[in-house]
Parts: sequence; structure tokens; C-alpha cells
Amino acid sequence: MCGITGYIGDSQAAPILIGALKKLEYRGYDSAGIAVLNEDGFTIRKTKGQLSVLEKKLENETISGSLGIGHTRWATHGEPSDINSHPHTDVSGRITVVHNGIIENYLSLKEWLQARDVVFISDTDTEVIAHLINYHIQEEAREKHGLLRAVQKVLARLEGSYALAIAATDYPDRIIAVRKDSPLVIGIGRGENIIASDIPALLSHTRDVIYMEDGEIAVIYRDHVEMLNAAGDRVIRPVFHVDWDAEAAEKGGYTHFMLKEIHDQAAALSDTLRPRLKDNEIVFEEPGIDESFEGAERIVITACGTAWHAAIVGKYVFEQLARIPVEVDIASEYRYRNPVQGRNDVFIVISQSGETADTLAAMRLAKKNGNRILAVTNVVGSTLAREADMKLYTRAGPEIAVASTKAFTTQLMCLYLLALKLGRRRGFIGDEDYKEYIQALSRIPSQAEKLLAKQDLIQRFASQQFNKAKVFFMGRQVDYAIGLESALKLKEISYTHSEAFAAGELKHGPIALVDKNTLVVTVATQKRLFDKIISNIREISSRGGASLVITWEGETVFAPVAGEVFAIPRTEDCFSPILSIIPAQLFAYYCSILRGNNPDKPRNLAKSVTVE
Ligand code: AGP
Repeated sequence: MCGITGYIGDSQAAPILIGALKKLEYRGYDSAGIAVLNEDGFTIRKTKGQLSVLEKKLENETISGSLGIGHTRWATHGEPSDINSHPHTDVSGRITVVHNGIIENYLSLKEWLQARDVVFISDTDTEVIAHLINYHIQEEAREKHGLLRAVQKVLARLEGSYALAIAATDYPDRIIAVRKDSPLVIGIGRGENIIASDIPALLSHTRDVIYMEDGEIAVIYRDHVEMLNAAGDRVIRPVFHVDWDAEAAEKGGYTHFMLKEIHDQAAALSDTLRPRLKDNEIVFEEPGIDESFEGAERIVITACGTAWHAAIVGKYVFEQLARIPVEVDIASEYRYRNPVQGRNDVFIVISQSGETADTLAAMRLAKKNGNRILAVTNVVGSTLAREADMKLYTRAGPEIAVASTKAFTTQLMCLYLLALKLGRRRGFIGDEDYKEYIQALSRIPSQAEKLLAKQDLIQRFASQQFNKAKVFFMGRQVDYAIGLESALKLKEISYTHSEAFAAGELKHGPIALVDKNTLVVTVATQKRLFDKIISNIREISSRGGASLVITWEGETVFAPVAGEVFAIPRTEDCFSPILSIIPAQLFAYYCSILRGNNPDKPRNLAKSVTVE
């Protein structure tokens, strides 16, 4: 996610903006910038890289002005670069904008503006906002509310999510803030006011805040704030006193980034899905995706760790929905096994960071063979994104915790979209089924939200089981893949020995390990295999193993045989992994806490394994 901030008051704005942006660094970013207004107009300093690069740029100059806006960018449209950094301005330089979110219809707006001779200098979606405000403000006499009215006209044309801070040379006494789907908070100071994407950026100035609501516009002056609702009516909003400490504030009030990111999944899944569904049709804004499977005879998916588990789900889903052979390989295995590579293989390479050494090496081996590379990654401008032929961004926002959660579920969402589109194209999914699949996907974010509301049940179960010496996860088909991911989550943050196996393998060895110190978690969503799963569970219980079953709401067959049953909302069988992984993520998180660990920074692990 990007971070935005704005200041208006009696102090010099530049150092305050930089300080606020520092407090937003935790959100992850690839570039930063500020714009400060004084009698000569806007002074804009922005650059790719960390804030320290921007500060170095500023160290030999004093930028005067007591109104300004600032931004830390997490690239979504346009690679990280000085030009693509925010703030963005219109052609005259009289309007400046910083933005957090995605303008989904920016291409059509850009074309509309270009048809009116507007010249763009960046590849971002945000730049259209500055030009549109400049276009519409021409229609307003320079009277008191001209800027506000122009902004309202622009908002009526935008589709997507946005938190905006807008400043204009002709209105030096105010900043306009807008909130839709991306958070924005107003800090109420004495003779000054400050806005930011998140509380941490405000705390050194004030603890009195207004949480903007969706659709609201705030006109922020030095000594007061005027709020308007989505209908344009003046509203009075309550001012809250925040007593969080700075560290807690960075985690949005959650104890750890991991728990925050587990809870971010509903919103992240919506961000992954929404820009790609238009009138019940899957559309990829990233170029080349649709053509990438032309003539493909096989799909090879390669990745590491959690991303590899997503790849395994991908195998089941592509083969079921698109009836195309899929091979999955751990990247560190693939790169050294002298693989047989088909000329018409399409490679899907999955990586949250886009920097994992083994994954990059496997991708380069395939590329050398002439295979088409489709990257599923979370980081715009990452090495993987830059070297792949096509990329599909997960849009999960920065994932800070080492244990991957929202990156995993948004990777799955991307794979589902690809498999559905390919299955339809290859004639294996009819119109009606396609529509039903899409409707099922559309329900996933709210179902995830409903599931997250049940976290206390998992917390209680973890309090009973966290000391188990051995924890096994088992399942069949896509449930087996979720077992693998669940075991990885538990082992990497609780340090409990945990492993997963295909439930059909129980009698081929793992059952020898089952005793009263064992917990076996069964993921069971493939109804046609329930009888087999039930007998597996009976074999566990008869040897004293404790058991938890994760299955559909309304399923009663497991209650007689399982110690505990945790129900997830119903969806298409093949989509179950996005939901069934959530209780396992929470279970791992609470076990880690109960064992006295820091789930955000597990021992011996790094967020991105950029070396072999
Ligand atoms: C998962 O929780 C781990 N952090 C780790 O297995 C991770 O998934 C793996 O290192 C791959 O990272 P990537 O997705 O950035 O390539």
C-alpha cells in the first residue's frame, strides 16, 4: 500500500512531511516524494528508493512553505522510478496530488485527456487525477469553492479505490482530502492539521483524530476542517483520542503484522479480484496474459515455500478447469535436475517478493529454453516482474511478516482467474458454469471476513494444543496442498515439528508416528472423498491422536469421529483453499504466541531468500 500525508499549519511543512513519511515506512514502499507550496508555487522533490535517498536530495536546500503533501509509493501502475513517484501535477504545475489505491478506469480517462492534448509524463494511474482536476477547475470561477467543486466532478468519474491529498496554488489556505476504500485519518492539532494514511504518522503532532469514512471529502484549513459526505452535504464527525503507542499504531492496533495481514486478506482478495472482473467477465489489465497460453501444451509452475504450495493448488485447478497438463516443481529442484523442457510449455513462476534466488534461476533456465514466462508476483518492478514475459500482480500490498499469508491467498486468487479464463477459452467451461464460478469467486472476500470473525475459536483450540510434540496435517487433492502450507506456517513460527501428507499416504508410513502426543489436523472439503477421510481420522483417533477437522459449514459427518470441527463457508470445491488456509494461519499464529515466539520475526528466517 502507498502512504500519503499532508500538513497545513504554522510550521515549515517539509520536515514534518518527511517525519510523517518515516512513520509510514513500515507499510513498504519503493519511492517517496513531497510537494510544498509557497508564494513561488510548488517545490516538488521525489525519487525512487528509500526515504534516505529523498532526504539526501533535500539536505542542501531549505524548502519554505507551511502547506504540503507527501507520499511513499508501493508501485501498482508504472515501475518504481523518479518520474512515477508521487506527488503528481497537472501540466501547469498548479495542482498536486498524492494517492493511495488503484484507479481502475485510468486508461480510458488517460485516453480522454490525451484526446484533449493533455501530455502525460508518468506511467501511473494517479496522474490522470491531477490533469482532470485542472481540466474541471477551468470551468469554475476562482471563487471560494472552485477547487472543491472541481474535485467533486473528478471523483464522479473515477472508478476504483483512492485516498487522496490535493493541493492547489490558487487555494493556498487548504488541502483537500478524499477517502474511498483506502484509509485516511485527519489529525486535529492546535493551529495546524495533518492527514495521513495511518495513525503512526500523526502521533508526534496530535492524538486527536477523525477517521474519514468512505466517500467523504475533507477541506482542511490551518484552524478548522470542513467535512462533506458522499452526497456533498456538510457533516460533523467525532474526534477520537488515540492512546496507542507508536509501535502498536503501525500494526493498526494488531499485536503483530502477521495477525494484521491475516485479517487484511478479505480486503487484499477484493483488491486482487475487483479490477479483473468486468460484467461477469475476467479481464486482465496486464498485457499479454490472455495470449500467454496460446498453443500451450503444458503448464509448468515453479516456486519456493508458500508460493510452491500455491503452485500445487494451481496444478489441481488448471487440470480440473482447463484440462491442461500441469507440472509443479520446487524451483531449487527444477533448476538442477536437467529438466525435459517442452517448446510449448508455459511457465508460471510464483513469488511474493519476486527476488527469490532459486525461483529466479528456475525462471531464467526456462527462459533460456525459449519458454514463455508468466510471473505471479506481489512486487511491481521486482526482478521477476522485469524479466518475465507477462506478469499478473497479486495486489496484496506489502507483506511485512516473514510468514506469508495474504500473499498466498491472493496468489491462489490469481491462479483461479487464470485457470477459469483458460478453461473457458479451451471449451471446458460452459457459460453457465463460468458465471457460477465467477460469482463464487466474488463471494470469497466476504466469506473470508466472516471466517476471520471466528478467530476466537481457533485461539481457544490453540491454547489446548500448542504444546503438542507433533502436529500433522492431512488432506486429499487441494486439501493436501493446504495441509502442506498449514504445516509450513506452524513450523516456521511456532518451531513445532509439523509435517503434512496426503491422507491416502497415512498407512504408508506416517501412522507409525501417531500417538497421544500427536495432533492431526484434517482439511476436508472434497465431499466425494469424505468416506476415505473419515476412515483416516478413525485410524488417528484409535491410536490416541487428537484431531481437528476443517470442513464446510453444515457438514455433520465428521463430528462423531473428530475431536473438534472447524467450519468454513461453502464455495466451489476447488476454491476451498483460500478459505481453509485461514484457520490454519490463525492456529499457527496463536501457537507461536503461546510458545513465546515473535511470529513476525521467526528465528533463522528472512522475508525474502535472495541467496541460495
Ligand atoms: C512462507 O511463509 C515463507 N516466508 C517462505 O517459504 C516463502 O514463501 C518463500 O521463501 C518464497 O518467497 P517468495 O514468494 O517471495 O518467492
